Amino acid sequence: MALVGFEDALSVLTAGEVLGLPTETVYGLAARIDREEALHKIFQTKQRPFFDPLIVHLSESMNPKDFTIEWPEVYQRLAQEFWPGPLTLIALKKQSVSDLITAGLPRVGLRMPSHPVALKLISALGVPVAAPSANMFGKTSPTKAIHVEEEFMGKVSVIDGGSSEVGLESSVVGLSADNTLEILRPGIISRSQLEKVCSPLGIKVFSGTSQAAPGQLKTHYQPNAPVVLDLKSKSLSMSQTKEFEERLKIKNKSWKELYLNDNPTLAARELYSQLRDLSNSSENSAIWIPLDPRLKDKPEWEMIFNRLERAASFIFS
Ligand code: TXA
Ligand code: MG
Repeated sequence: MALVGFEDALSVLTAGEVLGLPTETVYGLAARIDREEALHKIFQTKQRPFFDPLIVHLSESMNPKDFTIEWPEVYQRLAQEFWPGPLTLIALKKQSVSDLITAGLPRVGLRMPSHPVALKLISALGVPVAAPSANMFGKTSPTKAIHVEEEFMGKVSVIDGGSSEVGLESSVVGLSADNTLEILRPGIISRSQLEKVCSPLGIKVFSGTSQAAPGQLKTHYQPNAPVVLDLKSKSLSMSQTKEFEERLKIKNKSWKELYLNDNPTLAARELYSQLRDLSNSSENSAIWIPLDPRLKDKPEWEMIFNRLERAASFIFS
């Protein structure tokens, strides 16, 4: 049985095993940060390469300064405003933080999730957990306990915390040497929300990821069925599916149409679950997603474009 209750979940983490953990963004594959072998299990289970750093998750009584050698004023304010919540802050790590977590980089990503089950478990464990999204490397992140069970074929213990409310991974930000805050991965905490905290301190917010975060590969978040992101057409014709199939070197797919919700918050919440359901709906499916390219200029759609552009096998524009 992969689904476990609170006490068993705590025993799993205590014993240095990995656990499917609900968070408000997506489900994580968690392990305690103070045991190398537990961290190794994350990489083994996900088949994740070691160059992709992990995010450390804290509970409310934990202090980010215990894990970092520098915690700038702006981080203090950002944490005050957005923690617990979907914001990851990248800061210079203490030596005691394993290099496995940071992929050998000097900085570590920290966040305090707002999901009550995650907070309670980390607090009871007494040690932060490292948790990447609980999916095989490069695949779509899970937003329900059942997704995690299916992803690892029942081999990983999962605690059910319902559907993730945000539905996409946290915003990842880092203060650069020239005192600007860089958005390394856009999320539901938008640029303008960050600016409200940063501007009074004279700190500019830079999005557009001059240098993408490590692990932010060109292809990522990919469901099992190929995805076409269509920025040109509003409906799908037979001749068009033929063209897409030729381009993608695939044949006779059963094409599923995915129309995103007009509200970006709801679109984000549903997206990964919809991609999973459609890829699993028939063995030979392909997914077509039409999207108005003008939305790309709207800040609240940035996170959705960011994920879809990586999930897509082909972008029709
Ligand atoms: O919402 C989330 O952030 C979820 C939940 C489980 O908390 N976690 C998540 O983890 O999305 P993961 O491993 O799938 O993505 C972590 C990404 C890395 O691929 C990298 O892009 C960025 O966060 N990251 C983590 N540590 C970093 C570091 N030290 N420097 C730069 N980027 C970092
Ligand atoms: Mg991930």
